Formats: sequence, structure tokens, C-alpha cells
Amino acid sequence: METKKLILVALTVFLAISATVRTDYIRPQPRKTLNLPWNPKNPSQPQQVHISLAGEKHMRISWVTEDKSTLSIVEYGTSPGRYTFSAEGEATSYSYLFYRSGKIHHTVIGPLEDDTVYFYRCGGKGPEFKLKTSPAQFPVTFAVAGDLGQTGWTKTTLDHIDQCKYNIYLLPGDLSYADYMQHLWDTFGELVQPLASARPWMVTEGNHEREKIPLFTDAFQSYNARWKMPFEESGSNSNLYYSFEVAGVHVIMLGSYTDYDELSDQYSWLKADLSKVDRNKTPWLVVLFHVPWYNSNYAHQREGDEMMVAMEPLLYAAGVDLVLAGHVHAYERTKRVNNGKSDPCGSVHITVGDGGNREGLAQKYRHPQPEWSLFREASFGHGELMIVNSTHAFWSWHRNDDDEPVRSDQVWITSLVSSGCLAEKNYEYRKSLMSS
Ligand SMILES: *[C@@H]1O[C@H](CO)[C@@H](O)[C@H](O)[C@H]1NC(C)=O
Ligand SMILES: [Fe+2]
Repeated sequence: METKKLILVALTVFLAISATVRTDYIRPQPRKTLNLPWNPKNPSQPQQVHISLAGEKHMRISWVTEDKSTLSIVEYGTSPGRYTFSAEGEATSYSYLFYRSGKIHHTVIGPLEDDTVYFYRCGGKGPEFKLKTSPAQFPVTFAVAGDLGQTGWTKTTLDHIDQCKYNIYLLPGDLSYADYMQHLWDTFGELVQPLASARPWMVTEGNHEREKIPLFTDAFQSYNARWKMPFEESGSNSNLYYSFEVAGVHVIMLGSYTDYDELSDQYSWLKADLSKVDRNKTPWLVVLFHVPWYNSNYAHQREGDEMMVAMEPLLYAAGVDLVLAGHVHAYERTKRVNNGKSDPCGSVHITVGDGGNREGLAQKYRHPQPEWSLFREASFGHGELMIVNSTHAFWSWHRNDDDEPVRSDQVWITSLVSSGCLAEKNYEYRKSLMSS
């Protein structure tokens, strides 16, 4: 009898312990930068193919060839091997100290049908690639993860993103972690090609894109040459900030590392861009930039304050639904906030700087948790934003748990359009802010 009791107690204790172990997530160590040798076998073969939206019904195809004589031609069509259309684009290259880039091609194709698979080939030869255009209507799904890098964790994050049915990937800054080592831009391009050649990758710059050596090189030289975004198409004069529209969503990509004060070009452009948004056509308004404004992690605490003081009133007046940021290597989601506190007519801020770069996680949080912070966790992972219709969106965050994607946070977000926040009573106030 006594033995039985003892066994029962031991079993209960064992179960209790294993239950705690299972709920207490053990955070993974950073992984090293992958060893991806950069030696293109055939110099005229397209390398590092990635695509991005380029104005209504158009897509920009970007790729690199070692061979400088390869033309910037993309042939494409809706069945494999049958290229009924072709377009010619432009090419650029750059030198960085002793490094010479390959020929970087950017070719805009279109007009393209919505929600359609196209097969394409770059430079007149080489392998065939396949892309899918975005739908014209809801639902539309975005995959989101910043601070990607090129480690084993990056690979895991990319594998998980590949498993989800997304239309567009949004990257709020810090892509390759090349950090002045230019060949790492090439290996990053190769690493992401399987995903980035199939769905548009829309990116904005982080601090790791800024590779300035005073007197020798400009900041953002490599980033701008390789990751050309539709800034011209959206009336911006800089690749560091731009906007685009897809299926009822207006997305604004801002730059945390270029001027943002009231006298800056970025500020004037933002104001003009916001005033053009038609919420009947695009009920959802989403903004991305690198350095978060609402962050309760010790890492990069208050770094976004200056930009927030300058630009938050504009975003608030315009009724931005959602703000996505990176930089802090962790995940955090807030209530609707404005001016440092919760506000039902402000934006939901989400930090997803957890793509998996070699610097590892930002583990230390401020205590107590601020009233506006709803969920925070230092783990690698990615987010998925499914805009279901004009009023409802479903956000989920998927932690890289033992190489498995585990949905760890999820929430329905209702649009400000459906909330009454943008109704007539605020109209005069918003108009005065936008024009002042
Ligand atoms: C939008 O989607 C939500 C969630 O599926 C649903 O409850 C709601 O009725 C939909 N609204 C419209 C206008 O279709
Ligand atoms: Fe960063």
C-alpha cells in the first residue's frame, strides 16, 4: 500500500515537472552564418533572382550575372516554356573598395493578370522561374519577418514562410547582415532566391543596410543597387521610402535611417502619399519601418523616439491600422496606441525583428510590462497577416520551436474604417493635420 502511494506521488511529481518544462520555452542559441560559397559556375546564368511589385499590374524582376554582356531581358508567359511576352530593363553595377559587383539587372514586366501564375526566364537563357501575382480583391496574405540574416535560423524561418500560403513578403529592414563584406550580399541573394523569385519581396532598409565608409563609399550603395523598390512608381525620390497598393491595402514603407523631420523630403512625401489614400478603395492602411516606436525590450530602447515625435501625428491623423517594425530581435504586439499610451483610434504596433540573424535574441524586457504591451517574447519566428475583408484581418505569429513553426500568438484585428474613428467628427481635425 505504502509503495503504491509512493509510486503515485512520484508519478504526479514527474508529470508536474515535465508539464512545466514543456510550457517553459527554452530559447535557442544563435546560429552561425551559413557557409554559402559564392562562385557562380556559369557567368551568364542568372543568379539571385528576386521580384517586387512595380506599380499597378507590373512586377520588377531583379537578378545578377557575372557576364557583363548579358542583356536585361525577361521573357514570360502563362505556360511553361512558352514565352509570349518579353521586356527589356536596365542594369547597374557598383564597386566597393576591392569588390566589383556583377551586372545587376532590373526589368519591369507587365501588364500582368491578377492572381495568375507566370513562367519566366532571365537574360535569354538559363533556368525557368515561376511567380504568382497578387489577387485584386481580399483576401490577401502577407508574410512578415525582419532582421533576417543568413544563418541556420534564417533558413528555418524561410522554410516556415514557404509553407504558408502568402502573396507578398514584407521585410521591415536588416536583410543580409553583409556588414561591409560585399560577397555576403551575393550569398544572401542566393539563399532567398527560391522564395523571392516566386513571390514579391517588399523591403525597407535597416541599420545593416547602411555601409558607409566616409570618403570611400555611400551609405546604402549595395542595398539600393540590388533591392530596387517601386519608389519612382509611388512618387518618391528615394529608394529608402515608397508605397504600394495591393487588394484593398495601402502599404507604406518608411526609412528609419534617412531624414524624417518636418522639413525633410520623406516627411513631405509621406504627407502627400497619405492624402492620396482612398479608404473606399484601400480600407486598410499599413506602415513598415525598421526601428520600433513601441518597444518594451531593453534592446534599442527609445531609439525610435525622434521619428515617432515627428511622424506619429501624421499616421494618427490618417488612421493607420497597423505598424510593423523590426530591429529588436524578438516579438512584441501592442494594443491600439498613440502618443505613448493606448488609444482606440491609434495603430496596432508589432515588432517582428526575429528572422534569425547571427546576433541572436534580445532577451531582457522592462518590468512591469507597459499597459500598452499585450504580448512579448524573445524567440525567432515570423508573422502572417491575412486581410480577410474590408473590416477583418487575422494576425498570427509563428515561433521557430525546435525547427517547427508553432502558432504562438494570434488575434483578429478590425479596421479603423469600421470603427468609427475615421468618421465625420474627426474629419476636420484630420484634414487640418494633414495640410498644416
Ligand atoms: C469579414 O470577415 C469576418 C471574419 O470572417 C466576418 O465575421 C465578417 O462578417 C466579414 N465581413 C464582411 C463585410 O464580409
Ligand atoms: Fe537593426
